[in-house]
Amino acid sequence: MTTHHPTAPDLTGRTALVTGATRGIGLAVARKLTACGATVLLNYAHDEARAAEAVRSLAGLPGTAAAVRADITDPAALDGLFDEAERRLGGLDIFVHNTSYFRPSATLGTAPDTVDRSLAVALRPLLAGAPRLAELMAGRPGRIVAISSAGARRVVPRYVSAGIAKAALESLVRYLAVEFAGRGVAVNAVSAAKVDKGDGSVPAEVAKAIVGRTPGGRLTTPEDLADAVALLCTDEAAWLQGQVLVTDGGLGLVAG
Ligand SMILES: NC(=O)c1ccc[n+]([C@@H]2O[C@H](COP(=O)([O-])OP(=O)(O)OC[C@H]3O[C@@H](n4cnc5c(N)ncnc54)[C@H](OP(=O)(O)O)[C@@H]3O)[C@@H](O)[C@H]2O)c1
Repeated sequence: MTTHHPTAPDLTGRTALVTGATRGIGLAVARKLTACGATVLLNYAHDEARAAEAVRSLAGLPGTAAAVRADITDPAALDGLFDEAERRLGGLDIFVHNTSYFRPSATLGTAPDTVDRSLAVALRPLLAGAPRLAELMAGRPGRIVAISSAGARRVVPRYVSAGIAKAALESLVRYLAVEFAGRGVAVNAVSAAKVDKGDGSVPAEVAKAIVGRTPGGRLTTPEDLADAVALLCTDEAAWLQGQVLVTDGGLGLVAG
């Protein structure tokens, strides 16, 4: 006899907003939250057709999903995104800030504007959004999760603008955690090194080298990060504050 277990953890009735959720890691997070029963808003900025496809791909899961267009670097659009969350969901239990901005370049010669944009994308939704999130999460066991990367702490070749932005993002997570803790809202980050999105973006040689060094013996997938986000959304994770959950099969633990 087969026993049906609902997808764990059970987030039935929770509401969530995920930035940059129409592909890659953001979509995996949205899929996991929807599979766990949450009502999820998928934010995106440009590609409407892909957003519609992303929403379609979540049909039939226990929760519900809808897409909302807003360029989170535009202050008015960001405000509009929170208005939309309030209008459609009434309030928020979960906010996942996933979007990042990255243009590969060596550190010497990197245009300061590129760093400014990476910083704006990383910080603005949480910094400008914090008062809105405080309102939207009032009286709820809120969860704010930022998606970070190994480049926050280690020098990844040609990753300088995003690396600086992720370091700032992890610092902001700690500052916000202290001020949100008394409101019953937990603020944390989930981080990974290279993620295999199944789109050929990890060249075979690179994949082989990473797998060889990873104690867990495979590449990290978007679903690994999505599972870590869902864990942070459980009631049992309420006392975790300001932490960076490194989701990498142990890769970051080994030297070399
Ligand atoms: N990929 C990796 O190997 C890796 C490793 C570790 C950590 N991470 C982190 O994981 C996160 C997601 O990475 P990813 O590679 O999955 O990203 P991605 O595939 O490039 O997805 C980007 C998403 O963000 C949206 N977006 C882009 N600019 C936006 C803006 N200004 N406002 C609102 N939405 C915007 C895109 O929609 P539109 O195109 O419609 O705008 C899309 O939904 C990032 O924080 C990244 O640093 C990635």
